[in-house]
Amino acid sequence: MKFGHFDDDAREYVITTPRTPLPWINYLGSEAFFSLVSHTAGGYSFYKDAKLRRITRYRYNNVPADSNGRYYYIKEGSTIWNPGWQPTQTELDFYECRHGLGYSIITGKKNGLAARLELFVPVGDNCEIDRLVLTNESDVPKSFTVFSYVEFCLWNAVDDSTNFQRNFSTGEVEVEGSTIYHKTEYRERRDHYALFTVNTPIDGFDTSRDAFLGAWRSNANPEVVENGRCTNSVAHGWAPVGVHQVNVTLQPGESRSLIFVLGYIENPEDEKWAAPGVINKTRAQAMAARYATDAQVDAALARLHAHWNNLLSTYAVRSSDEKLDRMVNIWNQYQCMVTFNMSRSASYYESGTGRGMGFRDSCQDLLGFVHLIPARARERILDIAATQFPDGSAYHQYQPLTKKGNMDIGSGFNDDPLWLIAAVYAYLGETGDYSILDEPVDFDNDHSLAQPLLEHLRRSFGYLRTHKGPHGLPLIGRADWNDCLNLNCFSDTPGESFQTTGPSEGPVAESVFIAGMYVKYGNEFAEILDSTAHTDEAAAVRAEVAEMEHTVLTAGWDGSWFRRAYDAYGHVVGGQECEEGQIFIEPQGMCVMAGIGVNTGEAVTALQSVKDKLDTKYGIVLLQPAYTKYHLELGEISSYPPGYKENAGIFCHNNPWVSCAETVVGHGDRAFEIYKKTCPAYIEDISEIHRTEPYVYSQMVAGCDAATFGEAKNSWLTGTAAWTFVDVSQYILGIQPTLAG
Ligand code: BGC
Repeated sequence: MKFGHFDDDAREYVITTPRTPLPWINYLGSEAFFSLVSHTAGGYSFYKDAKLRRITRYRYNNVPADSNGRYYYIKEGSTIWNPGWQPTQTELDFYECRHGLGYSIITGKKNGLAARLELFVPVGDNCEIDRLVLTNESDVPKSFTVFSYVEFCLWNAVDDSTNFQRNFSTGEVEVEGSTIYHKTEYRERRDHYALFTVNTPIDGFDTSRDAFLGAWRSNANPEVVENGRCTNSVAHGWAPVGVHQVNVTLQPGESRSLIFVLGYIENPEDEKWAAPGVINKTRAQAMAARYATDAQVDAALARLHAHWNNLLSTYAVRSSDEKLDRMVNIWNQYQCMVTFNMSRSASYYESGTGRGMGFRDSCQDLLGFVHLIPARARERILDIAATQFPDGSAYHQYQPLTKKGNMDIGSGFNDDPLWLIAAVYAYLGETGDYSILDEPVDFDNDHSLAQPLLEHLRRSFGYLRTHKGPHGLPLIGRADWNDCLNLNCFSDTPGESFQTTGPSEGPVAESVFIAGMYVKYGNEFAEILDSTAHTDEAAAVRAEVAEMEHTVLTAGWDGSWFRRAYDAYGHVVGGQECEEGQIFIEPQGMCVMAGIGVNTGEAVTALQSVKDKLDTKYGIVLLQPAYTKYHLELGEISSYPPGYKENAGIFCHNNPWVSCAETVVGHGDRAFEIYKKTCPAYIEDISEIHRTEPYVYSQMVAGCDAATFGEAKNSWLTGTAAWTFVDVSQYILGIQPTLAG
């Protein structure tokens, strides 16, 4: 069953009912100002960092309720409705949402009045434009009232949910003309405020949420809208909102557009004030003036379209399969841009307050992004590398605003360093810009420790070279790619973090997966060394790699597939002798991609085992048999119910590894079959089972052990985007950038 359809000419997904299984969202903005917008106009906006500079408030854990957004209420007579159906949920005569590249268009019609809401973030500016075009499609004159609504977040979204006793007293606004300014904390330490404006004189405003909603009411039935009149409330503390009232009369056939701008402004310290207590509005007024007319908005939209046309012209395919074309040419690349920008921070499933940018995540996201805007990939590589420690290990995460490593999670994920090599190799292959290797980059964000980027790669490889366990395989530390395989954690206390409990240094648990990475990215490092005239060092790296390859084919080989790991007791994980978790997907894909066992037959055998033991109609599950009991020595992986997440879910991220691997052994058709199983466009028809957006990948699809087999979760922010693009563009379609060209 479908809830809409693709419009490939317009490069849009068209949702034709608001009653989708879950909120189906889009991302606006791809530089500094970002908005999430659902098909019912839910979502929120932020500047650079959804934790530290959140502009509008969202209520967490809110799927599927999706209950805050930028809402436009229309009151005609006693009928109150929203073009996006939410939050009043008044039945519409027509509803449509078109999610496009960097914009969304939501259209609702009721009783002969059409409301078309276009939302986008202009290229090069820090604001969201919401243009509401109202058309009287009836044959009688119509008079009605429009109320806008956003709720401001008091900037730090963590305080907003943990220290609201403070926030209840800090909120401050100013209202001047048609513009509402949100200036909480600007008086002391902040240099930024938000504005919400409309390009017409208004008939009223509200800035106090309590005044707007009325006592004991919700967004679904605001008292002000019911009364048809704003109260001109000025918020002092509690929850500041931005509400405009615009009274409209339209003759039959007549249209009127209202342009709303939600913006973010920073002022230099010496230009903060216009008068004591009155903020300097010059920049805000200039911003409003940039989008005051339809012609200006049309021009900004045209620039946005041109921007995307240009980006997507770098890699395009024309085949006889329209689903393949639409994924490669539009949606997969679009999602790569979003994952590059967001890492795993802000989505409907990620709070935006926790993870920030992941070291391994961002390095991998770059693999699917580097061809789009190489200059931004370059900058990102340097930012990431600056969070590496001098010994080659790395902070697992960092905040995008400060670019500083996140101490809460710290280090000790031993795959992290090798992903940096993957990212730099991809950048060099795409651009040939070797100057990046000479770029001085801090260690631990400490400038006095800066070294050329090449030295960072050397330490990445060196960290794994010097961190091997009893079998000669790399030590796993807190976890490798699989965050939930925590072999040194041994947690029996509820609520303890599986990722930070237990030591990362000391114990002997080893990872065959990291061994596969060591071979693949060790070889790439050797190529980089060769191309920069470090031939002897390259040979030494290759000797190390050859030794590891041998170790994988002995200690890491189980007879019919690659083992997953050795636990802290030295017991095999992912082998025949294991009752549960006998075979895992990750080492099969990675080791074969690395070329291990390709000439000696193990590669083909391992991939056959994947097909026999892990394959399902909706994709390849992560492991089998699923863990039915909690294994203290394995950690979080065995804490999930069978079939979910890392415990035998279809973790979409590593399906493309197997697809890539199949091409390495010459099985092109099988590679494409795997590609199609998780690819959104091919499973659009089962949207009622899959449930997440049919135009983007989700992190996980419930596996065959799950009660909800086939149901996806955690859409948008997943390494699946980059890896499926690498798979389809480089391995299946076969355009591979190498250092030689
Ligand atoms: C994390 C990745 C990790 C994956 C598998 C994701 O949630 O962002 O870093 O590789 O889970 O555990």
